[in-house]
Amino acid sequence: MVTSLGVAVVGFGWMGRVHTQAYARVPHHFPQLTVRPQLVTVAEEVPGRAEQAAEQFGFASTTRDWREVVDDPRVQAVSITAPNFLHREIGVAMAEAGKHIWIEKPVGLSTADSSAVADAVSKAGVQGTVGFNYRNAPAVEAARDLIASGELGTVTHIRVRLFSDYAAHPDGALTWRYELERGGHGVLGDLASHGADLARYLLGDITSLAADTAIFLPQRARPTGATAGHALATGGELGPVENEDYVNCLLRFASGARGVLEACRVSVGEQNNYGFEVHGTKGAVFWDFRRMNELAVSRGTTYQDQPVTTVYVGPGDGEFGAFQPGAANAMGYDDLKVIEAYRFLRSVAEGVPYGATLADAVRSAAVLDAMVRSVETGSWASPA
Ligand SMILES: NC(=O)c1ccc[n+]([C@@H]2O[C@H](COP(=O)([O-])OP(=O)(O)OC[C@H]3O[C@@H](n4cnc5c(N)ncnc54)[C@H](O)[C@@H]3O)[C@@H](O)[C@H]2O)c1
Repeated sequence: MVTSLGVAVVGFGWMGRVHTQAYARVPHHFPQLTVRPQLVTVAEEVPGRAEQAAEQFGFASTTRDWREVVDDPRVQAVSITAPNFLHREIGVAMAEAGKHIWIEKPVGLSTADSSAVADAVSKAGVQGTVGFNYRNAPAVEAARDLIASGELGTVTHIRVRLFSDYAAHPDGALTWRYELERGGHGVLGDLASHGADLARYLLGDITSLAADTAIFLPQRARPTGATAGHALATGGELGPVENEDYVNCLLRFASGARGVLEACRVSVGEQNNYGFEVHGTKGAVFWDFRRMNELAVSRGTTYQDQPVTTVYVGPGDGEFGAFQPGAANAMGYDDLKVIEAYRFLRSVAEGVPYGATLADAVRSAAVLDAMVRSVETGSWASPA
């Protein structure tokens, strides 16, 4: 039997829109789901933005105060897509009110914040899904299966990279992302959080690390009005960038494998250059988000001069079959969010978690906090 599930979205910037579109599309791709999301309400503090979202996407009501969602009996599940400093307060309040949450990474400003939300979710017995979308890519799941199969031998090392230019423009506005109080970490929370999750998803737990960070653009112009995403602000009063633009980090895994994670938000010439290279004693697998549906794989028994071949993922790899009938038909970024919505709603329907959970957010946050400690002490640190 199909039941309807009232959903709310809190914060209607880029991620608010992407979550909303995913709710609309999820029944198209996953008709077997026994819950159907209904867009009940959208909470957004910028005047007019919620009304515009309601008109475009069909929310039944709007509010400027997310606290009204806590008490709204029509709402059983909430997307928390507001800036990082609000994740803890909203996440805990929604879980305590008995609402399932689909919350964006990095889940707050620190491990303490992520843990507070994780505790509230587990105490309330609700489901909590986290926006680590890159692990939802069918090619990433195929890489994980390949590693687990042992075909690559014993994994020796991984390189994870996340290079972007979204903050490279010197006129990029000084939004919440660049403040310690509202953004928390800089590129650590924005990109390295995904990298830490991917590294763990593929290779298991990280036991220690040594990091170096830098701020390359130390001042930006304050925006003069409401922002969403990565707006430009020319001529505004300059203020300080309080968190890091860049991180480079050595990793050690419980398995004994080694790794390097590098992330930068001000890399001119890099657009979503996200990916990994995993090496084993018998082979290797490479993934590049910009060619999301492909893997480059080297396997065999020749060791030296062993060829690398391109493998297109297809039905049978992850959730690819829910989107395309055959290999090399492209899926895109938004499809990863549809998969995430599916896993969230399936968790709600079955009372069992699918996909990335709050426990994964806590582990990723612990890695980021260890990076900060490592930078402060100039030594190796362990994710607590
Ligand atoms: N998974 C991913 O790939 C991914 C990508 C981008 C952002 N994110 C995460 O999603 C979250 C949002 O990022 P974004 O890029 O959409 O940011 P954004 O700035 O585009 O949107 C945030 C929205 O929240 C609204 N908001 C602020 N305070 C509010 C309040 N008190 N009540 C209601 N709404 C409020 C803002 O007005 C804005 O519309 C962040 O935590 C970010 O880390 C994840």
